[in-house]
Amino acid sequence: MNGKSITIIIGGGIAAYKSLELIRLFKKAGAGVRAVLTSSGAEFVTPLSISALTGEPVYQNLFDLDDEANMGHIQLSRSADLVIVAPATADLMAKMAHGLANDLATTVLLATDAPVLIAPAMNVRMWEHAATQRNLSALEADGIGRIGPDEGDMACGEFGFGRMAEPDVIFSAAQTALGAPGPLTGKHILMTSGPTHEPIDPVRYIANRSSGRQGAAIAAALVKRGARVSYITGPVTVPTPKGIDEIRVETAKQMFDAVKAALPADAAIFAAAVADWRVDCAGDTKLKKEKGALPSFSFCENPDILASISALPKAERPALVVGFAAETDNVLQNARTKKIRKNCDWLLANDVSGDVMGGANNQITVLSDKGEDPWPIMDKKDVATRLVKQLTEALTNS
Ligand code: C5P
Repeated sequence: MNGKSITIIIGGGIAAYKSLELIRLFKKAGAGVRAVLTSSGAEFVTPLSISALTGEPVYQNLFDLDDEANMGHIQLSRSADLVIVAPATADLMAKMAHGLANDLATTVLLATDAPVLIAPAMNVRMWEHAATQRNLSALEADGIGRIGPDEGDMACGEFGFGRMAEPDVIFSAAQTALGAPGPLTGKHILMTSGPTHEPIDPVRYIANRSSGRQGAAIAAALVKRGARVSYITGPVTVPTPKGIDEIRVETAKQMFDAVKAALPADAAIFAAAVADWRVDCAGDTKLKKEKGALPSFSFCENPDILASISALPKAERPALVVGFAAETDNVLQNARTKKIRKNCDWLLANDVSGDVMGGANNQITVLSDKGEDPWPIMDKKDVATRLVKQLTEALTNS
């Protein structure tokens, strides 16, 4: 952090007062801080208090001649090692997601080539609104990092997700973004994600509804904590998280080969929905439709990747093997037998009878040697954060 240059963009929200503490933490760590205050941000904190902490003028206007002469908006965006938006309001997020640049803050954000972190803060309904979540997905796909929001009481009297993350949490995320080691630095995590496609003939295949969203969220959370991630994914359209080693495959057999090639690993997370069977002797030419004749196929079993990796001898086996159990009925009962059959360390059981496959939310029960831990229904990104936090504790305490 020492000698680094941080540009902090302060949006208009009650949480803006916490940004003063954040500036203090950066300054204490030896960083230079330049602050851009939006016009609504100035309704909550004054330029004078910010300037007293940064020791620099506060930048407020795109068309201010003095500001442009001292430090033009392009220079302001380019001189930063890291740009942090705290608080990131729903409005700022929407503008960023759409590339608007109609004031100094949004212009800096569009012109910067530095990593950008946002710390959202808003009313829980605004946070949960489909438009905000759509904008968030677009920002994350653009490689923008997010810290929080936290759950708790809000200034407006409601309760839920929307409180800005605490300054010390934003500060440590900034350290990681600037290349400081994270808790998983030096660890190699291997994971699978998405569906597999099992060919029937060169143009047809058997697939499933897995979108790969949960796997992508887990990979992003692992990278955030400094892990080296081998991400083996079936065909998906979700964006590839930044900073990972992606290996694209189609079939279960290819996925298994890629997993074996990526070993050794400290932990393995098998989030892919792997086809249990494939068509025995898939045709080399397209199957023709013939009048009155229906095709029939014989199937053979695919390799069970999770069970095979769990069964490796100790020296070759990742220290922690995590599987998923997507079930539509008797979820826990099936998951319990599956955990024994697959012999993995943690099994995350989830009910996929609703719109979990392809949807934004997931409801997990973790089965481990500590017992059964039911989690509330959560956004897949929050599931990923919670899983990676527990995995970090397990790997770093062992
Ligand atoms: O048996 P089932 O498909 O329900 O098991 C789910 C778990 O096993 C998931 O973690 C999935 O990634 C993994 N699996 C696998 N190889 C298979 C089938 C499932 O790794 N052939």
